[in-house]
Amino acid sequence: MTDQYAVIGNPIAHSKSPLIHAEFARQTGQDMAYTAILAPLDGFAATVKAFQSDGGKGLNVTVPFKQEAWKLATRLTGRARMAEAVNTYKFEADGAILGDNTDGAGLVRDICDNLGVALAGKRVLLMGAGGAARGVLSPLLEREPARLFIANRTAAKAGELALQFGHEGVLVGGGYGDIAGMAFDLVINATSSSLSDELPPLPPGVFASGALAYDMMYGKGLTPFLRFAQEQGAARLADGLGMLVEQAAEAFALWRGVYPETAPVIEMFRAAA
Ligand code: ATR
Repeated sequence: MTDQYAVIGNPIAHSKSPLIHAEFARQTGQDMAYTAILAPLDGFAATVKAFQSDGGKGLNVTVPFKQEAWKLATRLTGRARMAEAVNTYKFEADGAILGDNTDGAGLVRDICDNLGVALAGKRVLLMGAGGAARGVLSPLLEREPARLFIANRTAAKAGELALQFGHEGVLVGGGYGDIAGMAFDLVINATSSSLSDELPPLPPGVFASGALAYDMMYGKGLTPFLRFAQEQGAARLADGLGMLVEQAAEAFALWRGVYPETAPVIEMFRAAA
């Protein structure tokens, strides 16, 4: 029987995941189907359990269920445990629900492999201290940046996150006022500001020479953050399309044991945009 997978969220109609996984399956010759499931806001667990008992092999989890998914998992990978959020389930033969978080690995792959920017020894600014920021911290730290500053409107939340993840001397949290006068080689927007067409209150001069500005959101045209980065002279701009495809590839590999090629899929979406 064809193995069943799906992405579960609310809303879900605009998810690109079914297209991405269909392309990965075609490319690698895997016998699998991947659909999108709209779960009621108060019915996440019931929807997951029903999918599992129908023989489903795995799920991707998206907004607003990633934290609930973390709680419902009966087994967690290390990166999902630290993230306190799960975007991938694998239903194991013994009935366990393995929860993983592939978002951070997807971001790091896009930055390092696709964009060719090494993180070791670099000064990195991560904006935001919500679920999206938390989800990418461990994989970023693994690449050993010289400094990783978490800046958040609510400075205390960034401070708490930095304390929780350790890496004293490298990882620091604070408010946007605290980064005035500092320059970074990589500035990542992990806030939800782009959704409301807003710009985080970045001081001028944060982009070092040659800097990459990365917005984890993507859409048509530049986000307010990427426009600001362009005006401020950031050398390179990137949106989150590459991260989206890369996090999907990590999930696909966890499920199927083969790593799909991501570049043609990213190109396919770029061409269609
Ligand atoms: P997500 O899961 O997308 O991370 P979240 O957990 O609600 O969503 O977190 C949203 C993040 O975006 C927070 O860091 C929030 O900052 P505060 O903690 O100070 O609220 C940040 N954010 C949202 N809108 C923003 C804006 N216009 N400027 C700067 N930061 C913003």
